[in-house]
Amino acid sequence: MAENSAAGTILNIEGLNVSYPVYETDPVRALRGIDLKVREGEIIGLVGESGSGKTTLARSIMQLISRPGRVDSGRIEYDGRDLATLGEEELRALRGNDIAMVIPNPRTELNPLVTVGMQIANVARYHLSLPRKEAKKMAMAMLEAVQIPDPTRRFKAYPHELSGGMAQRVVMAIALICSPRFIISDDATSGLDVTVQTQVLELLQDLVQQQGASMLFITRDIGITAHYCHQVAIIYAGEIVELASTQNFFDNPQHPYSVMLLSAFSHNPKLRGLWTKVVDAALEGAAESGCYFAARCVRASDKCRAEHPDMREMTDAHSVRCHHPVER
Ligand SMILES: Nc1ncnc2c1ncn2[C@@H]1O[C@H](COP(=O)(O)OP(=O)(O)OP(=O)(O)O)[C@@H](O)[C@H]1O
Ligand SMILES: [Mg+2]
Repeated sequence: MAENSAAGTILNIEGLNVSYPVYETDPVRALRGIDLKVREGEIIGLVGESGSGKTTLARSIMQLISRPGRVDSGRIEYDGRDLATLGEEELRALRGNDIAMVIPNPRTELNPLVTVGMQIANVARYHLSLPRKEAKKMAMAMLEAVQIPDPTRRFKAYPHELSGGMAQRVVMAIALICSPRFIISDDATSGLDVTVQTQVLELLQDLVQQQGASMLFITRDIGITAHYCHQVAIIYAGEIVELASTQNFFDNPQHPYSVMLLSAFSHNPKLRGLWTKVVDAALEGAAESGCYFAARCVRASDKCRAEHPDMREMTDAHSVRCHHPVER
């Protein structure tokens, strides 16, 4: 996908640190010094293994880090406004109208007692202050937009009557009905089978682009980002370790962790095994000084164990946090 370099910045995250206290031990530092810019109309993929801090970043943007989690430092600017300065009322408006989040397990997101049409319509009534009839019309249009088969019948269906793929489309309709300018998709299609996943992703991408919106696309599947994102950000133990245009990233991945992710994504089961056994070990094994990835890195030197690497811009649209980046 071509980059949209002329557009302005819609989201600007600077030096974000977020932690969760843990009883009788050091807090988990879920995000460490996150710097990230998203331009208008841009889709940025955020990739990292389980526990790397992806959802924490999503929730930070939504200003939904709940106690005892806390933002230790840093700022998040959306459309020029520092989100930390907004009141609850302003945030509620922002969350429905400007920034929307699509998450997995669509069934638990939906109210089992209300028809899906009415659930979508209620969002339009509340956030767009539309009269009932208008809201219903808009909900119907949205069911068509997310390509639900037989939308007139589905409007009156209850969530349990829908397949997983259809329920995910309803959740997307709810997220997109107010034409948000910024969408966060947090692993939204991971529960669906591969064909349905592809359909839902294509649709999400189309809708985002039609609306000229930006998207933070969170996934554990690095392969998906090649098709749907302009930029790729790799997160490891709460830190962005590589950030590049999708083209640059796939042409020339430079962080050893990125290379590991790419080999895990390959069809070679031996390589894939590297990726699956990790989980929270990423944070537990991470040294507090030096590179957090050093303990697992085949390229680690004494310098890596002693000195924390800074993010370095290697070429235009390609930065990496590594003392010994992989060269082709
Ligand atoms: N409410 C919480 N209380 C304590 N620790 C938390 C809480 N939420 C997240 N964490 C910790 O913060 C770290 C980052 O978690 P987060 O959920 O952001 O990861 P993730 O990248 O979204 O993982 P996954 O791919 O499994 O969804 C993990 O170590 C996790 O255990
Ligand atoms: Mg998550």
